[in-house]
Amino acid sequence: MISKTTIDQVYETARVEEVIGDFVQLKKSGSNFKGLSPFSDERTPSFMVSPVKQIWKDFSSGKGGNVVAFLMEHEHFSYPEAIRYLAKKYNIEIEETEQTNEQKEQANERESMYLVSEFAQDYFVKTLWETQLGKAIGLTYFKERGFTEETIKKFGLGYNLDQWEAFTQTALEAGYKLEYLEKTGLTIVKNQGAGVQKTFDRFKGRVLFPIRSMSGRVLGFGGRILTNDKKAAKYLNSPESEIYHKSKVLYGIFYAKQAIAKEDNCYLVEGYTDVIQMHQRGVENVVASSGTALTPEQIRLINRLTKNITVLFDGDAAGLRASLRGIDLILEQGMNVKVCTFPEGEDPDSFAKHHALEDILAYLKSNAKDFIQFKTSLLAEEAANDPIKRAETIREIISSIAKIPDRIQQEVYVQECAKIMQVSESTLYNSLAQLDKKFKADAAKKTKSTQKAFEVVKQDEISEKVDPQYELERKIIELLLLYGDKTEDFEDLVLKENENGELILEPETYQAKVYEKIYLDLQDDEIELANERFQNIYVQLITKLNQDEEFTINTFVNALDQELINEVSSILMEEEKYTLHDWERKDIYPKDKEIGIAQLVSETILSLRSLLIKARIAKLQEATQNSISNDELLQEIINYLQLKKLLHNKLARVIT
Ligand code: CTP
Ligand code: MN
Repeated sequence: MISKTTIDQVYETARVEEVIGDFVQLKKSGSNFKGLSPFSDERTPSFMVSPVKQIWKDFSSGKGGNVVAFLMEHEHFSYPEAIRYLAKKYNIEIEETEQTNEQKEQANERESMYLVSEFAQDYFVKTLWETQLGKAIGLTYFKERGFTEETIKKFGLGYNLDQWEAFTQTALEAGYKLEYLEKTGLTIVKNQGAGVQKTFDRFKGRVLFPIRSMSGRVLGFGGRILTNDKKAAKYLNSPESEIYHKSKVLYGIFYAKQAIAKEDNCYLVEGYTDVIQMHQRGVENVVASSGTALTPEQIRLINRLTKNITVLFDGDAAGLRASLRGIDLILEQGMNVKVCTFPEGEDPDSFAKHHALEDILAYLKSNAKDFIQFKTSLLAEEAANDPIKRAETIREIISSIAKIPDRIQQEVYVQECAKIMQVSESTLYNSLAQLDKKFKADAAKKTKSTQKAFEVVKQDEISEKVDPQYELERKIIELLLLYGDKTEDFEDLVLKENENGELILEPETYQAKVYEKIYLDLQDDEIELANERFQNIYVQLITKLNQDEEFTINTFVNALDQELINEVSSILMEEEKYTLHDWERKDIYPKDKEIGIAQLVSETILSLRSLLIKARIAKLQEATQNSISNDELLQEIINYLQLKKLLHNKLARVIT
């Protein structure tokens, strides 16, 4: 287990904006940072990071929390994994406390799979560099391909001996369980019947390319065969697993992410070797889809880093038409796409291998076409003098343009298409409008069929209905978080006896800390917050404020359970939502901030108290209707009614 000291040190050092900045392109926005949500598919940023509060909030998915919560959400790390990741990032030495066997066993499945993969990675690298066969076969192969030792090390390339279970045996001896070796696909288990199992290495006699997540964890491997055996697959890849989802991974993203953001462009290639060779030459903003069709999730990974993709196609042109779909997918996400092809028989790997950096860059610059030029050149050859084919080509291009979410962008492309295809813009706009109509109709059909199941509930009713009690309880937590330890002048109406012996309400001013005021007032009525999570946070807040000389939101949040952290972050980031939506300009910024803290506190408590008392009165009245009238009950109601009136007076005073 990681020691408490280490954890504290990690929290003290880690900066939420720096950590998230490795995954999401953040732009400064006032005192916050803004970016595209990494959790949903959006085009206008609703993801906010507050360097002051050290938390983040994603308004599109509702998720939020501190730096650790982000890593848990985004990278699917467990808590200790997140701490380890941060410790590594900030060069903090991890102090371990001894783990019991039981704890070891509890380490969850995913974690075990990551560990096995990490072990395999080390093993394959060692085999490559430290064994005779590894050096003679694996290392030689990579060097012949033109990779330098530095590159081979950087990408963690490895080799597995051409034996049935060299790796599996070593892993088992090192204490890794067969279960996880099998689940990660590193080992293939065959049942021979009668309880006999046979195991062997998936990547027997292959050189290996580790596939890493955005944060650098090994998720799986691609293994290339070294012989020219036509019957065996050239590449074998790890199977889909709990930790390896092919459709959500891009090869090389870990090494490319910084360069992609910096260059504000991403080159998309097909293969492992394309990425590595380009990288070695100095073009570092390259990732590969690894031979499969591009998926929306993969595009989204890039979309977080840049709006611009340049797709690089091998010279063999065979797959070009099939890849048009991929281009539409990129356009659909509101990204700009360019396409660059290589001379016949060349792929980015061979091209990079045989050219100097400036030649490569110059080639990319002069040959990257925007998608209309690309589509026309591709389709025009077939269309040449055939008017029917030409019309088809135009329709194809327009259907791509229709996928672009931005109107202005669409217009630019329509103009370009008109020029290249020599048709009038108005003709193009007409067919664009027709397609738009069709899309809308399709979309409407879709929503209609999904809505059917919920016919009773009206959509806008849900979003408009606010639960005042919920809002008030939430406000109380917010006040405690923001101003809990502040000392303020409060005014209260107290019952006093005047000279004539009558009871009157007199204003009295006193000083108190905000949290004391809230706590004492709520305790007066024995109020517990109805929302369980709020109540839980409330208790912890009061305790902390009462204990600590110096209360900071940061330390408080970091000591909470992850589930509560999400709640607290969303409360704290509430005000940022207004900046997000530019509401100030529309004059509906809540007045809260303009009135004093003391007043805000009093108003909130009093409102909550009146609300609860009203509810209690209603309940009691209901009870009187159901039972034979009962003096005690009636007296109670009268008491509450008086209290209600009192509160009402107080509230009126506070508000005016
Ligand atoms: N691929 C695969 N399985 C195969 C063939 C290819 O998974 N049987 C994937 C690999 O990720 C490969 C990519 O598709 O990197 C592109 O395939 P290809 O162009 O054939 O491979 P290269 O990367 O060019 O490999 P090499 O240069 O070693 O032939
Ligand atoms: Mn290739």
